[in-house]
Amino acid sequence: MDVHFITHNPSKYEEASNVAQEFNLSIKWYDHEYEELQEDSLEIIARKSCLSIMQTKPELKELHFFLEDAGLFIKSLNGFPGPYSSYVFNTIGNNGILDLMKDKEDREAYFKSVTAYYDGSTIETFVGVTKGIITKSLIGEGGFGFDPIFRPDDNNQTFAEMTLATKNLYSHRQKSLRILFTSLTAFAKQ
Ligand code: IMP
Repeated sequence: MDVHFITHNPSKYEEASNVAQEFNLSIKWYDHEYEELQEDSLEIIARKSCLSIMQTKPELKELHFFLEDAGLFIKSLNGFPGPYSSYVFNTIGNNGILDLMKDKEDREAYFKSVTAYYDGSTIETFVGVTKGIITKSLIGEGGFGFDPIFRPDDNNQTFAEMTLATKNLYSHRQKSLRILFTSLTAFAKQ
């Protein structure tokens, strides 16, 4: 059974298909931009997105698919922007975040990724978290979103400076995806 990744973000698809290759899984890109509901929890957003997508695209009920929702949680901003990351990125962007952080000594932050998988009957969620710091300026040209202002612990590069392969050693997304892919491959072997 093919597994479809619903996303409108080509970078997310590229990251995911790279991780999937390690598991000898081939995932299919289902390019669809869905409206994200505003909730306080990424898990609830991811679950509700699965349900609302199945209403707008009933053919998906017959498929196995997953989607992924991420957020950046900054300690000195009490977890902001968290589940509102998309809205905040589209409004104030990376420079707006750097501005909010300009007097903050504590630069700690983490990325959280929730992958929600629909197996034809139920939805399960998988979580990945990567801790790091918010840089003081934009660093690096690659990646997307908050990549130029986030440097994971145990590395001296921001996500935007990393190759895809290196980001896939550290990112929140590969962590939630690896849990899903491990369970899919274990299931296939049974
Ligand atoms: P989404 O709702 O999962 O697409 O992501 C929420 C916001 O976080 C969007 O503005 C994304 O650009 C950003 N974002 C998600 N994942 C990443 C990442 O891996 N690196 C940098 N920014 C990300």
